[in-house]
Amino acid sequence: MKAGQPPVVAVDGPSGSGKGTVSRQLAVSLGWHYLDSGALYRLVALSALRNRVDLADADRLAALAANLNVRFAPAGELERIYLDDTEVAAELRTEQAGEAASRVAAVPVVRAALLQRQRDFARWPGLVADGRDMASVVFPAATLKVFLTASAEERAMRRHKQLKEKGIDVSLPDLSWDIAQRDARDANRAVAPLRPTPEAHVIDSTSLPPKEVVARILEWLAAVGVEIERA
Ligand code: DC
Repeated sequence: MKAGQPPVVAVDGPSGSGKGTVSRQLAVSLGWHYLDSGALYRLVALSALRNRVDLADADRLAALAANLNVRFAPAGELERIYLDDTEVAAELRTEQAGEAASRVAAVPVVRAALLQRQRDFARWPGLVADGRDMASVVFPAATLKVFLTASAEERAMRRHKQLKEKGIDVSLPDLSWDIAQRDARDANRAVAPLRPTPEAHVIDSTSLPPKEVVARILEWLAAVGVEIERA
């Protein structure tokens, strides 16, 4: 057992910035654990929709968040997320779950209920934590803080492509509008708004493939003295 806290890379940014892909690839390349914090908010939302809990009922939402029975497959494997032993990864990625998650994520008691659960993901040899408030709230002492962005048009296009591949047909203008609405809600909410912390490395992925973003993060990690044992 090593002494001290395991290293944490916080990767924050808006939907479609490529955070998920980059964070997964980074975790695999380092052989570290991976936290998809957005999935936790989506799980609370899904659980609320399934149990017909009103999305304005903060206390019941917080109770759902505190009692989530969830299990994730490791980052290098096919994405599988179990809620009460049912596999829900595809259902979590729907626009309906995303929209509900954005509402649920604006409820302070829900965020508080998920805080310790997220911190518990920090285990040796290290953690890549992906979300909106990883650097500002959940892991303020993170070893490295990265804020990933991309233009709103590029993010809408990426999302459109993803949905099309899944056979879901949504118009690009509708999607752009949804993304802009969600960005505004995430950036302007009273608790843990989406914003880069002053010490974050900001990187624009509009015309940068995930592999290059990962390479840059690995360089920054080496520069802060993290010993990288490549998996
Ligand atoms: O990254 P995502 O699209 O799966 O996130 C779903 C929603 O949860 C999105 O509206 C932002 C919110 N979220 C958050 O508020 N804090 C996080 N750490 C992660 C996601």
